[in-house]
Amino acid sequence: MTTEASLHERKEKMRAIRDEIIALTQSPLYAYRVKNSALPVIGEGSHAAKIMCIGEAPGLNEAKTGRPFVGAAGKFLNELLEGISVKREDVYITNIVKDRPPENRDPTPQEIELYGPFLDRQIDIIQPRVIVTLGRFSMNYIMQKFGLDFDIEPISKAHGKTYTATASFGELKILPLYHPAVALYNGSMRDVLKKDFEVVKKFL
Ligand code: URA
Repeated sequence: MTTEASLHERKEKMRAIRDEIIALTQSPLYAYRVKNSALPVIGEGSHAAKIMCIGEAPGLNEAKTGRPFVGAAGKFLNELLEGISVKREDVYITNIVKDRPPENRDPTPQEIELYGPFLDRQIDIIQPRVIVTLGRFSMNYIMQKFGLDFDIEPISKAHGKTYTATASFGELKILPLYHPAVALYNGSMRDVLKKDFEVVKKFL
């Protein structure tokens, strides 16, 4: 059960993460953030969420607003959540990399290594029952984090499957999905993502 006191503690821990990321001058993305008056994107949603959705890195709209998944891909993520009758505010949504890479390029291994520990701490704070990874970077990071390296397959094979992992706070399920952005330029992917998302319902 999540008590008021533990929710307060979670909020404080999340705030500490935010402050550290704001001051992360050693990040290769820090100068770009400042030059473009962009914001880091820490994450948003319920600190008692059962579901945690983890994307790759903020895009333009996210860096403008400081909120994850608010652009076109985010609208589709909202649709996916609606499709399984889950409110966006009841989920915790974040990314591995917390600052926008220039021109939305893929995050580098160094960036993933630098920002990954913040995500690790967020997972420990939220203690989700299900982690939905959005895209291959997130899938690879989470599978490796939970020692499932040998189970890693290309996302074309892994999407919609469920993996069981053991976290410090208990057992959780990992559900790799395609990144919602792929549905924006490939209409048939919309249905694949919707179908894969249905699996989440089993664990609520
Ligand atoms: N794509 C991501 O991976 N994360 C966001 O927050 C937005 C788009």
